[in-house]
Amino acid sequence: MISKRKSIHGQWSSRWAFILAATGSAVGLGNIWRFPYVTGENGGGAFVLMYLLCVFCVGIPIMIAEIMIGRRGRQSPINTMRTLAEEEGHHRAWSLLGWMGVVAGFLILSFYSVVAGWTLFYIAKSGFSGFERMTDEEIGILFEGLLTDPGLLMLLHTLFMAITTLVVSLGVRSGLERAVKYLMPSLFILLLIMVGYAMSTPGFIEGFNYLLWPDFSKLSAGSVLAALGQAFFSLSLGMGAIMVYGSYLSHTTSIARTSVSIALADTLVAMLAGLAIFPLVFSSGLEPGAGPGLIFVSLPIAFGQMPFGHFIGTVFFILLLFAAWTSSISLLEPAVAWLVENRNMRRNRAAILAGVIAWLLGIGSALSFNLWSDYKLFGLTYFDVMDKLTSNILLPLGGLFVAIFAAWIMRRESSREELALKSMRSYQVWLVLVRYIAPVGVILIFLQAIGLIGL
Ligand code: PFF
Repeated sequence: MISKRKSIHGQWSSRWAFILAATGSAVGLGNIWRFPYVTGENGGGAFVLMYLLCVFCVGIPIMIAEIMIGRRGRQSPINTMRTLAEEEGHHRAWSLLGWMGVVAGFLILSFYSVVAGWTLFYIAKSGFSGFERMTDEEIGILFEGLLTDPGLLMLLHTLFMAITTLVVSLGVRSGLERAVKYLMPSLFILLLIMVGYAMSTPGFIEGFNYLLWPDFSKLSAGSVLAALGQAFFSLSLGMGAIMVYGSYLSHTTSIARTSVSIALADTLVAMLAGLAIFPLVFSSGLEPGAGPGLIFVSLPIAFGQMPFGHFIGTVFFILLLFAAWTSSISLLEPAVAWLVENRNMRRNRAAILAGVIAWLLGIGSALSFNLWSDYKLFGLTYFDVMDKLTSNILLPLGGLFVAIFAAWIMRRESSREELALKSMRSYQVWLVLVRYIAPVGVILIFLQAIGLIGL
């Protein structure tokens, strides 16, 4: 029987509202900041090909599974997992999967907020003085200067966390639906303009080839895992963000079709960002593997040179900030929903508590670029540990368990009924992907990364 449960947190006003919110969660710094820099660190085209494979063979089936589980449970991921596991005659310890998601959400938000803070800085810089009169070197020094100023980084981190907490305390729906409706298309158009500009630069062919020509000799041992991690990060999978959004979804919406649209939109934005950025990187003689600062150096150089760059640059960073904002609220929502359900807290208090925890954790990230830059674990700074631990380990692990739960623990009648796919064939394709391909893929990639098998 289809689940008659209702979410105490409300429901999306329409299928569109859900698509917009979930796309808002998916499209963010992961597409525009992280995708180009991780692609650069992993040598380009072959990594991108691996990433696309991960999105289509692992990401989409797991997204369908996550939304389905969320809608059936209609509660925070922790309570949803417990309720559904018991309903299917299994142990309530499955709620640990929800807990792991909550932890991953806090850890991601802690460094996400620091990077989102950088965009605040660039909005101000671009808006007040622009980059026209700056040399490439000065633009590089500007970014370095930002990173080495702990006070400024903390201020920006605090501001961003405050606005994230504000929206979550108002309830995910009010405001968010409207904001995403206009901002996503605007971001998309701006990226197209940037790609247009990139086509006019001397490095376009080189950048284009770098992104799309697979050279497998450039794949390093960890590259496949990095591609998998990037797919999970970019699609917001494996930590309950999409699950909790699914719990506010109406029963009449087709989960499979919706998931495919979200994943396609997310992938398109990442590819456009790559097409816009790599030509600029090569035109200005930068290193593609320069790391997390890649877009914050290459883009301002372009904004300083292109027509209307002052205006376009400012609008771009504002849109990037909004994209980060609509993602960050989905990182807090699973924890907040649980506090409201289990601790009887009012939403605004729950949001503030969760925001403060993430803010505290973020201090380490802000300081890891300056005062704490020498404290390292396995050669990685606090910021890098948070980034790699969540994307490359916690999210794929969460996704693996989501796949196992959806395909091996839930009865087929339950999943078939909740997905309500018209064609039996489509259901079977999903089942094979989520039962075998996705879990085996994730496990093989883990084994390969720790050196147990060659891939
Ligand atoms: N998908 C977001 C991005 O690409 O920026 C980041 C993110 C949001 C990751 C929510 C995970 C998540 F649960």
